Amino acid sequence: MNQKNSFGLDYCFKDLENPIDLFKEWFNEAKKTEINDPNALALSTSDSKGVSSLRMVLLKDFNKNGFIFYTNLNSKKSKDMKINPNASMCFHWKSLLRQIRITGLVSKVTDKEADKYYHSRNYGSKIGAWASNQSSILQNRDELFRSIDDYKKKYPEEDKVPRPKHWSGWNLKPYEIEFWLQRKNRIHERLKYKKKENDYWERFLLNP
Ligand SMILES: Cc1cc2nc3c(=O)[nH]c(=O)nc-3n(C[C@H](O)[C@H](O)[C@H](O)COP(=O)(O)O)c2cc1C
Repeated sequence: MNQKNSFGLDYCFKDLENPIDLFKEWFNEAKKTEINDPNALALSTSDSKGVSSLRMVLLKDFNKNGFIFYTNLNSKKSKDMKINPNASMCFHWKSLLRQIRITGLVSKVTDKEADKYYHSRNYGSKIGAWASNQSSILQNRDELFRSIDDYKKKYPEEDKVPRPKHWSGWNLKPYEIEFWLQRKNRIHERLKYKKKENDYWERFLLNP
């Protein structure tokens, strides 16, 4: 029988007061067990009419202040987040039978942070950030390839491609995080953290 924590949950839930510490534990395990992209997450946003929209992005950093991903600031998701800064993330690690859901408020990362990450990317990805007008209509693929060629001519030196102003990162600062473990007969285990005042996180179980 597995060891239990104080809630009677599987020991993988640990006994941690801060959900970011638990996220780190689970994420480190997922890095060992997922066949690819353990940092892939579904990001949900919603527009001015309340219509939600969902897509995958890659987590590039996280700490007690939030969860960071990078994208085009003119994309559909960024337009949504400029209107409504409430957004949600969902990780599903099939290899671990675990899910983590995070809800919070997004804000843009600093230019310094965005520059640092942008300059760590390979040349093709940097050019792609210039060439692709993400989420706008593309007439045909040639239009995009011409744009890539044009930017390669404009920025031929691999380490001298500036970061486009329309490309940056978003930081989701969480106020709710739920950890979920798949169990037999759908009697799953759920532990939810809710942020209270002074950075204190309340913890409670949810029915599966
Ligand atoms: C596994 C995976 C990871 C992805 N990571 C990113 C990412 O980090 N940033 C990004 O802009 N798009 C990423 N995409 C593409 C997005 O899912 C999406 O197609 C794109 O960002 C446009 O979304 P939007 O029109 O809702 O803004 C990823 C797709 C997949 C399948």
